[in-house]
Amino acid sequence: MSGPNTNYDPVEVTPLTAESVQAMVDAALASFAAAETLADLKSARIAHAGDRSPLALANREIGALPPAARKDAGARVGKARGEIQQALAAREAEVGAAELERALVEERVDVTVPVDVAPIGAVHPITALMDVLGDVFVSMGWEIAEGPEAEAAWLNFDALNIGPDHPARGTTDTLFVGDVENNIVLRTHTSPVQARSMLDRPLPIYVVCPGKVYRADEFDATHVPVFHQIEGLVVDKGISMAHLVGTLQHLAKVMFGDIEIRIRPNYFPFTEPSAELDLECFVCHGASVNDPANPCRTCSSEGWIEWGGCGVVNPRVLTACGIDAEVYSGFAFGMGVERSLMFRNNAADMRDMVEGDVRFSRSLVGGAR
Ligand code: PHE
Repeated sequence: MSGPNTNYDPVEVTPLTAESVQAMVDAALASFAAAETLADLKSARIAHAGDRSPLALANREIGALPPAARKDAGARVGKARGEIQQALAAREAEVGAAELERALVEERVDVTVPVDVAPIGAVHPITALMDVLGDVFVSMGWEIAEGPEAEAAWLNFDALNIGPDHPARGTTDTLFVGDVENNIVLRTHTSPVQARSMLDRPLPIYVVCPGKVYRADEFDATHVPVFHQIEGLVVDKGISMAHLVGTLQHLAKVMFGDIEIRIRPNYFPFTEPSAELDLECFVCHGASVNDPANPCRTCSSEGWIEWGGCGVVNPRVLTACGIDAEVYSGFAFGMGVERSLMFRNNAADMRDMVEGDVRFSRSLVGGAR
């Protein structure tokens, strides 16, 4: 602050003249008007209304004026401050509202835009289909039975009347766990669960066993060394082939709609009589058989495609599992789940089922469910 100015001459205290005060106000207002953001406005406030602004500095000069002049100058500066404060508050309100408006527009979230949700995988179509298959039987009051994948050779073979010399026991077909002498195999079919069910469960028995099986097989479009089967077993009094056929007809209907099945004689050591289970070709429905001009690739113009095996449980198997074959009889059937998926969903290549591409799973799960 300057010392007292006894010779008051407004010209010497230039900052306090009406013109210069007005110039300060004009500069402040222009600078507030030019501020586009609250940050600009903050700088403008510091420059024009802060402690070191020209007006604040001019204000300090008031004390140096002779008393007569102080009132005028004080009124001028006070009015100017008021104007500046008002303009500042008004501009702050404007810029603040504009900034909010801009943020609302720029940061707007369109909740209707489809988002790419984090991929969460998909139920594998084989799992989904095994659930469907299991449900067909559970809804008829059957139970789901399970067994280990590393299985005693006795249960996988001997208990099912597959003797020590049967070719299926060779290392070319069967995967052994450790030394062959250990007699532990990766089960080659779900039929050991038949044996386990007969050994463990009270009679009568109505079970299905969906599960993984292993064979020393090729890996190509129609073979995979690890695949899935679903096995069914009934042991009760008075069970015959007719019950088997009726059950399979029901299963085929639920799985494939209005489609015929056929059984034709075959051999399995654990069933007698045994049969191969065929499905009417779901592509040509048999039309290609007598129409050489329109061959069917799906059934090789046979009209039928192989689905699984079945038969009346061999009494020797019942006996091996401690069941009185004079009183009880039963039927069993088993089919490949991969094959069923191929038929049901037109999945042409089994390799897609093991490669784990979620796009394949997603594309089929809806259909398999
Ligand atoms: N286990 C047989 C197979 O793997 C299928 C089958 C099951 C056949 C039950 C008859 C009875 O080929």
